[in-house]
Amino acid sequence: MKKVLIDCDPGIDDALALALVAGSPSLDVVGITTVGGNVDLELTTANALALREFLGLGEVPVTPGSGGALLHRTVRAGHVHGATGLGDAVLPVPERGPSPGHAVDFIVEALRADPGEITLVAVGPLTNLALAVRKEPRVVEWARELVIMGGSYTRGNHSPAAEFNMLADPEAAAIVFGAGWTVRMLGLDVTLTAVATSDVLERMRPLGRLADRLLVPAARSYGVVTAEGGPAIHDACAVAYVLEPSLFTCVPAVVNVETAGAYTRGMTVTDFNLRDRRANALLATALDVKGFWELVLGAYEGLAARLG
Ligand code: BDR
Ligand code: CA
Repeated sequence: MKKVLIDCDPGIDDALALALVAGSPSLDVVGITTVGGNVDLELTTANALALREFLGLGEVPVTPGSGGALLHRTVRAGHVHGATGLGDAVLPVPERGPSPGHAVDFIVEALRADPGEITLVAVGPLTNLALAVRKEPRVVEWARELVIMGGSYTRGNHSPAAEFNMLADPEAAAIVFGAGWTVRMLGLDVTLTAVATSDVLERMRPLGRLADRLLVPAARSYGVVTAEGGPAIHDACAVAYVLEPSLFTCVPAVVNVETAGAYTRGMTVTDFNLRDRRANALLATALDVKGFWELVLGAYEGLAARLG
């Protein structure tokens, strides 16, 4: 069993990533923390609570965190994820509320209590993680690994140069990349190949309630469609990396996050030429797309059988 703590901003692809988590018996979820990102914190938290119950994640604590970026204006992606953040998916109203306290404290205390065991998976803006690093720098030693969906060495999506999670809080991203750990970075370079094509949607369709209430309406209403004719399920790549790193080709690099550029704010400036420097990132450069979907759809099938 691998212990994971998921920091997220659900978000359609966050929801599909949480479904992958819930369908993966080899993962032990120690907690879900939320951050304002795709939509406001109140909505990302409400969505995480609804997903916890709908996906059968039991007693996993859901702890809300930061509502906005450390320094600058708030950036949202409601045009991609819809007004609620889950597109056309409407989940049953959850019975239980969030845990008391703040996500940053939850992250610090979870890692302190179990050093070397918990993999942090961050699929939203990095505000909570940056604050955790600032509050307790030893989280960097205590985390087993940090895996993020964010950035890119080739292109942006929310701006020509920047990926959404980076642009939503570039200062936080700069703190996280500069903290001393090796960030496992699943950027747009690979996540844009994780496309839910019409063939993939056909395989989701028979999966009962899971498909009818979540997978299909959410995927179909995703606001950005790739050239392959479907949405890219970015955040599921981070979970897939934790489950099966061999699906990804990875290269060490030095990544710096641009915080000042008029056109390049939020860009993950990537140097593959290490010279005498330590790599602060292990960057995914290619994904075995077929293997990815076998993993994801297999997990969804198992989950659907359990949920009925
Ligand atoms: C990332 O931005 C968000 O809109 C998605 O949930 C994903 O985490 C992709 O750029
Ligand atoms: Ca996300």
